[in-house]
Amino acid sequence: MSKKICFSIKDLNLFYGDFHALKNINIDILKSEVSAFIGPSGCGKSTFLRSLNRMNDLLTDCSIKGKILFNGENIYKKYNVNVLRKKIGMVFQKPNPFPMSIYDNIAFALKTHGIKDKERLDSCIEESLRDVGLWKECKDKLKQNALKLSGGQQQRLCIARSISIKPEVILMDEPTSALDPIATLKIEELITKLKKDYTIIVVTHNMQQACRISDRTAFFLLGEMIEFASTQSIFTKAKDKRTQDYINGKFG
Ligand SMILES: Nc1ncnc2c1ncn2[C@@H]1O[C@H](COP(=O)(O)OP(=O)(O)OP(=O)(O)O)[C@@H](O)[C@H]1O
Ligand SMILES: [Mg+2]
Repeated sequence: MSKKICFSIKDLNLFYGDFHALKNINIDILKSEVSAFIGPSGCGKSTFLRSLNRMNDLLTDCSIKGKILFNGENIYKKYNVNVLRKKIGMVFQKPNPFPMSIYDNIAFALKTHGIKDKERLDSCIEESLRDVGLWKECKDKLKQNALKLSGGQQQRLCIARSISIKPEVILMDEPTSALDPIATLKIEELITKLKKDYTIIVVTHNMQQACRISDRTAFFLLGEMIEFASTQSIFTKAKDKRTQDYINGKFG
């Protein structure tokens, strides 16, 4: 059975003022897969990721041409941004729990989306913490300030917060670059587990990580998407010389 398309991006161009940051991007991202975006610093990975849930809207000098279809609908036309952000969660490089309790971090997200009943909140919070493997560690200290957790635990809490409202997609921008190798491994295992229920797009500088966790990899360079293919073929038989050179560490 062929996989369904989650995002279909057509002729996407993005400008910051006069600066042409994304150049004619065409790409289809499939559901229930992990897609990795790689490429040297400044090539537009984060810009592209942010355009998928309209985070760039907040910038006054940013303009977009082309189409981003999510489940077949153009997200830049008549699409309610709050509905979009509920469906497309985001996890950042630096864990960013709110300065409140572990419980309230997730309750806040749920309440924002209309879940107020105490029993329902309790069960959703437990389920999200279990999904990210934090329940055992945290069940006796739910009222503790989230900022007291380790970096890796904070990042798993941020993932729990993002999945608590049952999005369809999770965008992750270098989610492990601030973490040690063990915490990184836990997040990688978590990503692999979550792809059963979510479509995941991860920006990473770590090529081993892209190999370990992603089904498909896109290579970006100077605002262009050079090549997008199965991770195995990108890393073993990339078609474009620039992709090969980047993967072989010839520049970066
Ligand atoms: N808000 C902004 N205003 C103007 N230019 C921006 C803005 N954000 C990013 N840029 C520029 O757009 C280009 C792409 O930036 P982006 O952050 O998407 O790169 P990246 O691939 O994520 O890099 P890194 O790997 O370092 O995170 C860069 O040249 C950057 O300077
Ligand atoms: Mg970036």
